[in-house]
Amino acid sequence: MGPMTVTAPSSSGTLRPAPGAPADDRQRAWWRTAVIYQVFLRSFADGNGDGVGDVPGLRSRLGHLAALGVDAVWVNPWYPSPMVDVGYDVADYRDVDPRFGTLADAEALVAEAHALGLRVLLDIVPNHTSSAHPWFRAALAGDPAARARYLFRPGRGPGGDLPPNDWESCFRGPAWTRTVDADGRPGEWYLHMFAPEQPDLDWTSPEVRAEFEDVLRFWFDRGVDGFRVDVAHGLVKAPGLPDARGADRRTEPHPGWDQDGVHEVYRQWRAVADAYDPPRVFVAEAWVPRPERLPLYLRPDELHTAFEFDPLHVAWRPGPWRRVVERGLAAAAASGAPSAWALTNHDVVRQVTRYARSQPPEKGSNEAERARWGTEAPDLELGRWRARAAATMTMALPGAAYLYSGEELGLQEVEDIPDARRLDPIHTRSGGTDPGRDGSRVPLPWSGTEPPYGFSPPGSAPTWLPQPSGWAGLTAAAQEADPGSTLRLYRTLLARRRQLMTGPEPLEWLSAPEGVLAFARGAAQCWVSFGPDDVALPEGWRVVVSSRPGVDAVLPPDTAVWLVPVGAPEPAA
Ligand code: GLC
Repeated sequence: MGPMTVTAPSSSGTLRPAPGAPADDRQRAWWRTAVIYQVFLRSFADGNGDGVGDVPGLRSRLGHLAALGVDAVWVNPWYPSPMVDVGYDVADYRDVDPRFGTLADAEALVAEAHALGLRVLLDIVPNHTSSAHPWFRAALAGDPAARARYLFRPGRGPGGDLPPNDWESCFRGPAWTRTVDADGRPGEWYLHMFAPEQPDLDWTSPEVRAEFEDVLRFWFDRGVDGFRVDVAHGLVKAPGLPDARGADRRTEPHPGWDQDGVHEVYRQWRAVADAYDPPRVFVAEAWVPRPERLPLYLRPDELHTAFEFDPLHVAWRPGPWRRVVERGLAAAAASGAPSAWALTNHDVVRQVTRYARSQPPEKGSNEAERARWGTEAPDLELGRWRARAAATMTMALPGAAYLYSGEELGLQEVEDIPDARRLDPIHTRSGGTDPGRDGSRVPLPWSGTEPPYGFSPPGSAPTWLPQPSGWAGLTAAAQEADPGSTLRLYRTLLARRRQLMTGPEPLEWLSAPEGVLAFARGAAQCWVSFGPDDVALPEGWRVVVSSRPGVDAVLPPDTAVWLVPVGAPEPAA
């Protein structure tokens, strides 16, 4: 493969300070190269002993995140919620669920994080509320103004017995549920792209728009630095809610997703965020079916970044990975927004497990991955080496990067949660055929040799999902003491990334033997071997970071290294 240069956005990009601009403008573009840690709050740390992670638990473990070297945290929804979908069913956007703490805890968290140099992003869920939200309760009670904030429609067919259109819920089954009128007779249907307990809002409603701008301000006024925007491509639906006629929402245009009208919403949100000092930021969860439309969300007056989703499912193979990186950097060049890389999150099978089985030709999927549990035994040691190599590669890429709770400990997916303990609506709505996402959401092991591994204080209620036996060696405390651990690798990666991999230089592919990807970032290089052979590293270069201990002149399979020229000064620890 020949050398090829992909121009990455500069580290300051569109926010490059104009001559005479205030000196802190560069500082304001922190998000362009940041490493952001996703705190899955329920499973991070339990402060009050109820077996569920909470804000006091997170506050008590902020030191772990500061020592890891991340720039910011993103906290999954912490709002009052019936927790049908782990809090993505919000009943009150301006408070904290009592199981997670209080608003005062939230304010203290923001202050303490800031004192440690960590920014705080929250998760806003604008596509739908909980069915327990006062607006939806009023709508069900027949209040016309409240109904106009959701998508109620008469059914089709005799007696209106059929759903208003053919859309399917992302959690399986129809995207419509029929209501019962006050007189006990079947009434209209309402739309829910996810669970029935998550009714979709009607974003043509001025009241809905005003409400969310106010919610943004509520949290920005409390010092929150930005939001991850849940289902950012979903808010606006095609007028008239036409049938999708079998269109696959993931790969084909679909009237329920990625409609042009959504951009007006984000232009208004950007104005709200820009009115703050420093300006607040957004990262979009936008699974657009046509990737060429993603840059539309990233125009300078809309959202700041959007997750790259290809890495969540790409096979551990050099060709597919190179294509993923090239596509991401080309998108960044087209939009001027930095890539936001992630290897995993709370919705996908953990990478250690994805890489622990035979690899698909190009990419996999959650469903395909989970379907082979129980039939193909995972080689977790192999999966862990590959996951470490993947992290070493990703941390060298231009742009921002997201880490997900427990990734830095090398946790695997927990496949054997008993069905009766599974809580993900995907499990129930699939009739139990798909285990769902719980296996990636198991409470973190902090210390000790058996559950709850320091997650909860001694004598606490059982953890909300069971932890496996065999995590004693993966606790943060055990890994702290082991220089070859995954935790120590991540710390080294984050520290050296700042020194070596966040400059404005483009990424330049280098020629490399079969099975290897190699690229330069300024004065440093990253080499990644996908196997199967040992490969000699170039002469005149030395290893400063390695995903596997003891790598020197030869790169073993499933390993990645960062190199600097021999004689270059040792990067500070
Ligand atoms: C997003 C979240 C996912 C949630 C869904 C519905 O995809 O990441 O966890 O189930 O939105 O809110």
